[in-house]
Amino acid sequence: MKHYFQKGKDASKPVLLLLHGTGGNEHSLLQIAEMIDPDASVLSVRGNVLEHGMPRFFKRLSEGVFDLDDLELRTKELNDFLNNASVEYGFDRQNIVAVGYSNGANIAGSLLFYFEEALKGAVLFHPMVPRRDLDIPSMDQLPVFIGAGVNDPLIKMAETEELKEILEKKGATVTLFWENYGHQLTEAEVMNAAKWYQENFRK
Ligand code: MLT
Repeated sequence: MKHYFQKGKDASKPVLLLLHGTGGNEHSLLQIAEMIDPDASVLSVRGNVLEHGMPRFFKRLSEGVFDLDDLELRTKELNDFLNNASVEYGFDRQNIVAVGYSNGANIAGSLLFYFEEALKGAVLFHPMVPRRDLDIPSMDQLPVFIGAGVNDPLIKMAETEELKEILEKKGATVTLFWENYGHQLTEAEVMNAAKWYQENFRK
């Protein structure tokens, strides 16, 4: 997969896996990684699917309706990519924290739904429930931050609450932060994610 890797100052820190929204690329979230942990390594990946020229991480049939076969294929592809990247760049595969926005948050959620221990933690900005027909693995105390909008036109509050419940039922520890700016990612969300990261990974 097309990607950008930047080795951090501190190799004991998690690797921040950046996953952009529809139409973004491997540069879109670099500033956000800097705000969350300026010393961590960054692995920023570009989605392999193009929708009218816009990169995404998996196909969709319409807005909010996912192509579930492609979601499965692409989730496995990303997981394999992470396995290989950890060898190529010499980082600990068990020490990856995903930071995803929108479509990128959805593939990060899907990684958690398919693979036990795929991630050490996840920041999901404006995620959906990736799918509802899987027996998902346990996530014992996995820290997850969700940033969502009370007035997000793409994601009802109930879907955000549903995702939180699904993750918590499997043992994840979920922090939910509500914003008021639709589907937009705001500075307050990022600052709260940074605080959550500090509490969970920098102590
Ligand atoms: C998705 O397709 O993953 C969601 O609709 C979010 C988006 O990328 O617009």
